[in-house]
Amino acid sequence: MFDLLYFLVFSVIFIQISSTQKSIPYSDQLARQKLIYAAIASYGTVPDYCMNLGFNNSKIRRQITVPCDTVDPNDTCSGFTAVSDEESAILVVFRGTTSDEQLAIEGIETVEKQMPWISGGVVSEYFGDAFYKIWNSGMKDDFNYLISKHPNYQVWVTGHSLGGALASLASSYLVFNHLTPSENLLLVTFGQPRTGNLTYAQNFDLLIENSYRITHSHDPVPHLPGKGHHGYWHHKSEVYYNEKMTGWEICEEDEGQKCSNANAVDLDFQDHLHYFNLDILTLGYSNCQNSTIS
Ligand SMILES: *[C@@H]1O[C@H](CO)[C@@H](O)[C@H](O)[C@H]1NC(C)=O
Ligand SMILES: *[C@@H]1O[C@H](CO)[C@@H](O)[C@H](O)[C@H]1NC(C)=O
Ligand SMILES: *[C@@H]1O[C@H](CO)[C@@H](O)[C@H](O)[C@H]1NC(C)=O
Ligand SMILES: *[C@@H]1O[C@H](CO)[C@@H](O)[C@H](O)[C@H]1NC(C)=O
Repeated sequence: MFDLLYFLVFSVIFIQISSTQKSIPYSDQLARQKLIYAAIASYGTVPDYCMNLGFNNSKIRRQITVPCDTVDPNDTCSGFTAVSDEESAILVVFRGTTSDEQLAIEGIETVEKQMPWISGGVVSEYFGDAFYKIWNSGMKDDFNYLISKHPNYQVWVTGHSLGGALASLASSYLVFNHLTPSENLLLVTFGQPRTGNLTYAQNFDLLIENSYRITHSHDPVPHLPGKGHHGYWHHKSEVYYNEKMTGWEICEEDEGQKCSNANAVDLDFQDHLHYFNLDILTLGYSNCQNSTIS
């Protein structure tokens, strides 16, 4: 009798600590029809137009664009906040690379320089600096304003490429600092590079329950920096799409072997530039004024 009771009690405890608790399950529709347009909007100068393709009547709070690197004064980092009353969501969105030079700089700095991160572990100094520059240049005030006005809204954090890394950092920053509870936050990234080391990933996994790192078939960027190189390690949960983005697999490990790690050959940068069959940079740079599906 007691044995059975102990068995039941321990089973329940075991199930609770071993299962991945997610208050917001993965939604292909949300990523495909809404959040990808937010990520695309961050590449433009007037995010409203791209946002309107995914959201009815969303309101941009402010776009913040700041110089983000000392080597190249033209290298800017950018992000914006917005609110959607229809979705009861506050959006926090970051932009990816804007030029090949930036990508090169990012590649070098990502690997070599790291900084301690607030929630534990170390992250690329380039990503960490970029997040803090955007955050401290006004995004913090905008976020605080929006969350105080809409305390019950979910917080949706997103970005493509470098923007995905910044979105990852922003999520752990927001939850670690109790700016929003974890069950209220949704992180969806597109083609995110490895952002920090294993300790960063492990602490991230404990902190952020609703994290979906979308990868597209042969996109090379999720393989950068190399796994374990200077300790770089992905956090959860990868959502790995096939070439035509018609089907996906979710890997509930940090570096799931069934997901993009199984396909690290024949890498194709075009897969990085196209998510959900949208030409991300072309759309973003044109402020979605010519929305063509390529
Ligand atoms: C806007 O609202 C209409 C009517 O509810 C809906 O059919 C449409 O899908 C929405 N569009 C977007 C972009 O959310
Ligand atoms: C920055 O941009 C300006 C104008 O496009 C260009 O003339 C200059 O060479 C660029 N600087 C660097 C360091 O790339
Ligand atoms: C991550 O980096 C920190 C700082 O260098 C280090 O203390 C920690 O051990 C690293 N994590 C792993 C798993 O190597
Ligand atoms: C958008 O399309 C119109 C009409 O097809 C064309 O005249 C215009 O040059 C295009 N603009 C851009 C930015 O591609």
